[in-house]
Amino acid sequence: MSSTRLIQVGLLFAAKAMAVAASKQCVDFVLPIHVMATNNNYTMPRVDSNIEAVQWALNFSVWNAPNATERDNGPLPINDIFNISAKLCVPSVKTNKSNILQIAVQGNAWDKRYWDVQVEPEEHSYVDAAIAKGYPILMFDRIGTGKSSLPNAYYEVQAGLEVDILAQITAMASNGTLLSSVSNTTIAEPNPTHIVHVGHSFGSLLIAGLLTQHGDMSSAALLTGFLPSTHQGEVPVATFEHDFAPVHDPARFGQFGSGYIVLTSENTLQKVYFTEDSLEPALLTWTEAVKQPEAVALYASSGQAFANPGPAYGGPVQVIAGEFDYVNCNGDCKGSYTEAGIKNSTFPGASNVTVYLQPNTGHALTVAKNASAVFEMMFSYLEDFGF
Ligand SMILES: *[C@@H]1O[C@H](CO)[C@@H](O)[C@H](O)[C@H]1NC(C)=O
Ligand SMILES: *[C@@H]1O[C@H](CO)[C@@H](O)[C@H](O)[C@H]1NC(C)=O
Ligand SMILES: *[C@@H]1O[C@H](CO)[C@@H](O)[C@H](O)[C@H]1NC(C)=O
Ligand SMILES: *[C@@H]1O[C@H](CO)[C@@H](O)[C@H](O)[C@H]1NC(C)=O
Ligand SMILES: *[C@@H]1O[C@H](CO)[C@@H](O)[C@H](O)[C@H]1NC(C)=O
Ligand SMILES: *[C@@H]1O[C@H](CO)[C@@H](O)[C@H](O)[C@H]1NC(C)=O
Ligand SMILES: *[C@@H]1O[C@H](CO)[C@@H](O)[C@H](O)[C@H]1NC(C)=O
Ligand SMILES: *[C@@H]1O[C@H](CO)[C@@H](O)[C@H](O)[C@H]1NC(C)=O
Ligand SMILES: *[C@@H]1O[C@H](CO)[C@@H](O)[C@H](O)[C@H]1NC(C)=O
Ligand SMILES: *[C@@H]1O[C@H](CO)[C@@H](O)[C@H](O)[C@H]1NC(C)=O
Repeated sequence: MSSTRLIQVGLLFAAKAMAVAASKQCVDFVLPIHVMATNNNYTMPRVDSNIEAVQWALNFSVWNAPNATERDNGPLPINDIFNISAKLCVPSVKTNKSNILQIAVQGNAWDKRYWDVQVEPEEHSYVDAAIAKGYPILMFDRIGTGKSSLPNAYYEVQAGLEVDILAQITAMASNGTLLSSVSNTTIAEPNPTHIVHVGHSFGSLLIAGLLTQHGDMSSAALLTGFLPSTHQGEVPVATFEHDFAPVHDPARFGQFGSGYIVLTSENTLQKVYFTEDSLEPALLTWTEAVKQPEAVALYASSGQAFANPGPAYGGPVQVIAGEFDYVNCNGDCKGSYTEAGIKNSTFPGASNVTVYLQPNTGHALTVAKNASAVFEMMFSYLEDFGF
């Protein structure tokens, strides 16, 4: 046994009486992912200043804004390697869920820290809640965020390509090669028998795309901050204030190039993610501290996720939205969907589609009050289906 391992074991004993956070082991690593994909060359204004960021948002928000088809100038072949900054956490002791790997995909304007909130983690960290239930969990910075590659924001960071990356990461988890090039860890390759995908917002959309294209890659899906609602699309992007990322905060975002925008302030983050009843100021401040830029092409390319249907997905899908989600439902999700309609339009082969509205909550569940209760709803759904 290496000395690092001995120290870890020692720490474990020392920490035994402490909170859940102490009973996990995590490893940060980089996955180089080679993608060959066909993106689209979308017409949109360039963003190289704060003034252009506002012009760009108006171009996507006015009543006569061009749709994705009208913006499309034709295919763009992509053949590139992207470095994905990933993190795997596993329970320190083997559990009866060690064979079920959760893969979590956060929404735009976040990186993987969305899942591991550091303010009151015992209430808000989805990672710690999953570990406490016995699940290993993998998360990663999507391209164009965090410590992953920051490719061209117009041509490369598009939804279809992001589904391809998610599919490859999922395949590596399935075929036992996730950690094959990681030398600095004592954590064993997870080798799951089942994979559960967990999403937030655009991350849920990417998972819905994965289920459409590769229905055999997932055993169950928990899609939060996502609701095919009759109010979808009613709140345009210009409702929220955006700056050009490297000008907004050169120290944090100086490495981001043309076409990367960022939500400007706590005020606008409050509008996007919170409701009056679910807001604790410390969580809003933390959201501002970890916010990430967004590549502009994401706003034209979401339809690509569903472009190449493959083997039908036959597992269960739990769709979870905050009751008062502004982004998805223009502020109230009640009465804006039916489970049968979502099943028919989005997951026709699914064994079960269940929608749950988390009371009093907005678009982001982990940073809202009562987050631990919604995590319990998610785990109890999985347990209903044997996961
Ligand atoms: C292991 O290496 C990765 C980069 O390859 C680094 O990000 C991580 O911090 C390292 N972990 C440890 C425990 O040294
Ligand atoms: C995208 O389309 C525009 C307009 O036709 C063209 O000027 C530009 O060169 C194209 N970009 C690429 C990378 O093909
Ligand atoms: C949006 O931007 C494109 C590219 O700059 C431009 O051709 C188009 O006219 C703009 N449309 C609107 C409605 O602003
Ligand atoms: C986009 O606009 C064109 C022209 O107005 C229209 O024919 C087409 O149906 C629209 N596509 C979508 C997906 O709304
Ligand atoms: C799995 O382990 C948990 C916690 O130890 C226990 O409560 C649960 O009954 C176990 N489930 C099965 C199916 O063995
Ligand atoms: C990915 O990481 C490798 C090794 O650190 C580096 O050589 C390469 O330039 C990186 N690629 C990108 C696109 O960041
Ligand atoms: C595992 O999956 C990855 C991603 O699809 C693939 O590149 C790799 O060749 C596979 N490895 C094995 C051993 O099957
Ligand atoms: C299911 O979807 C199809 C095609 O999208 C539509 O024609 C049909 O009316 C839908 N059925 C129900 C019951 O919603
Ligand atoms: C889906 O599962 C829930 C329990 O989680 C159950 O109440 C519901 O009846 C199931 N629906 C279908 C169509 O099987
Ligand atoms: C907290 O969430 C749980 C699970 O959704 C719900 O039953 C409960 O009513 C919520 N409590 C409040 C105060 O909203």
